[in-house]
Amino acid sequence: MVYLDNAATSFPKPEEVYVEMDAFMRKVCANPGRSSHEMARASAAVVMRAREGIAKLFNIENPLHVGFTCNATMALNMAIHGVLKKGDHVITTAMDHNSVLRPLYELKKKGIIDYTVIMPKNQFGAIELSSFTKAVRTNTKLIATTLSSNVTGMVLPYKEIGEIAKKRGILYLLDCSQGAGVLPIDVNNMNISMLAFPGHKALMGPQGTGGLYVNEAVALRSIIQGGTGSRSFETVQPDFMPDIIESGTLNTPGLAGLNAGVEFILKTGTDAIYKKKKSLLERLYEGLAVNKRIKLYSTIEGYMNSGIIALLIDGLDSSEAANILDSKYNIAVRPGFHCAPLAHKALGTCKTGLVRLSLGCFNTPDEIQYTIKSINEIAAHK
Ligand SMILES: Cc1ncc(COP(=O)(O)O)c(C=O)c1O
Repeated sequence: MVYLDNAATSFPKPEEVYVEMDAFMRKVCANPGRSSHEMARASAAVVMRAREGIAKLFNIENPLHVGFTCNATMALNMAIHGVLKKGDHVITTAMDHNSVLRPLYELKKKGIIDYTVIMPKNQFGAIELSSFTKAVRTNTKLIATTLSSNVTGMVLPYKEIGEIAKKRGILYLLDCSQGAGVLPIDVNNMNISMLAFPGHKALMGPQGTGGLYVNEAVALRSIIQGGTGSRSFETVQPDFMPDIIESGTLNTPGLAGLNAGVEFILKTGTDAIYKKKKSLLERLYEGLAVNKRIKLYSTIEGYMNSGIIALLIDGLDSSEAANILDSKYNIAVRPGFHCAPLAHKALGTCKTGLVRLSLGCFNTPDEIQYTIKSINEIAAHK
């Protein structure tokens, strides 16, 4: 199968990920941070290595400020519900995912917060930087945005957004679900207060992994309370990272895999990964853009793209096109709405959805050529 659904979860993983998870399950497999026996110590060391790997990748000074969760959604909920209070205002964008939007809807419904949603300026989902400055109010507490759109791949001006947040004394939560492991992320230079990441996308770990970085200046409240192996006689959740967000047993085999994935990225370099993806993306774009029966909602021209081409084939609903790609051509893509309803509203694709082709680190030029040929063939017969 040609796997082009990497924006959902990456596949395949580097070989080391499978090897490390297997070895962990067979030889370590104990609960970290609870007991002091040899296996528990080995398990804690794996978790610490995973924190250190993430810290290195995102230039986080203290690895203990990285907490692990089961996915990016949980991390985003912990950040959003953990910092916002009655009367706060939040800025987000229409290109954001429901894992940012739904917690905001919920808080607004309860009368706790208000928010402003910035609309894109074109059909590719580009966001104007000046919209952020204009949206700031005296009570703006948080800017919560995606690093890049999971529908079109459009990269937001995330460094510049961080500068605005810093200048105005606003917390900046970056959802790096699309782009972590591919684009440069530096929490210090980019003034990122909180960084939510999934482990199972371009960080190359397995499903069931993710996490949240929280910097020293953020006063986070816990949204889940429970056992942490620390301060057990206290009735309140520890107020320090990572324990404040890590109640209960961690997904240690998953973290062993995530650590191997992150080590692979550190060894390869995000620059090299981005370059490789970009060259495949350019090929794909050029092979499809010439066909008048294919409408592209992603661009590589003048903007950065995290590795996605979204499209519609004339006369075909996105689900029909994805079914043909799967059943006739053995190509895996994602149709529909990608949990990003406002993006589809803004792009005018609420009826049809979009066919999303998302590239991974291990796709090949031959696979891209085959995909171009297949999509052009479908378009010709419609
Ligand atoms: C931009 C964006 N944010 C958040 C998420 C949620 O990630 P997870 O499934 O790890 O919770 C996704 C998943 O596709 C995403 O694309």
